[in-house]
Amino acid sequence: MYNKGTIIPGLIIFVGLMLFAVLWDGGEKVEAPKPEKPVGYKECVKPLQYMKESHMELLNVWRDEVIREGKREPIEVGGVMYEKSLQNGCMHCHTSKKKFCDTCHEYASVYPYCWDCHVAPQEDVALKEAR
Ligand code: HEC
Ligand code: HEC
Ligand code: HEC
Repeated sequence: MYNKGTIIPGLIIFVGLMLFAVLWDGGEKVEAPKPEKPVGYKECVKPLQYMKESHMELLNVWRDEVIREGKREPIEVGGVMYEKSLQNGCMHCHTSKKKFCDTCHEYASVYPYCWDCHVAPQEDVALKEAR
């Protein structure tokens, strides 16, 4: 036999929980990523919009020029020369993979495999000094 005494309160609790789930906003909003701006530098190697959209293509161009064509000549940004390199170029200014590259990539769910071989900057200052 069904027990009316528990079914009705049970239904009320069930409907209440469903309403709560629907009406409650699910907690935190998803914020757009805020990659860390390099300190002490004003511009990137290319215009900002190009970098936002096409940095992965530029990295491929650099890689091909350096490895396949042997063109290692440095590039100039604001009168200073930088190595055409992921580690020693990009990461010279963008000193944290975690606070820069990863903030966007985690948001976009892309996980470039570059760091399997290329060395990311040390996140830890003590380690940085030891280098
Ligand atoms: C000379 C220092 C320097 C080098 C080298 C450099 N960057 Fe930048 N990068 C900057 C600065 C400064 C900004 C912010 C520019 C601005 O806000 O106008 C920036 C912006 C960016 C952005 C856009 C970030 C955003 O907030 O949307 C990306 C992506 C980026 N850089 C990737 C790279 C990659 C990849 C490399 C190597 C191919 C590289 N950068 C090399 C200084 C540098
Ligand atoms: C402003 C946000 C932002 C920053 C900062 C950023 N990336 Fe990206 N990156 C993206 C997005 C978004 C994609 C995916 C684009 C797509 O799939 O079309 C991407 C894709 C890539 C890819 C291609 C990955 C693939 O699987 O196709 C590489 C390589 C890459 N980023 C390298 C870097 C490196 C190195 C840095 C740090 C120096 C960096 N990115 C910083 C937003 C960013
Ligand atoms: C299997 C190991 C491996 C992986 C994975 C890898 N690279 Fe490389 N990369 C190398 C080696 C080795 C060189 C040659 C270094 C040299 O001769 O200076 C190189 C050189 C480069 C260079 C030019 C020189 C320099 O010091 O940066 C760029 C730019 C580069 N790679 C970008 C990338 C990017 C972007 C990714 C990820 C999409 C990636 N690489 C993934 C091994 C790798």
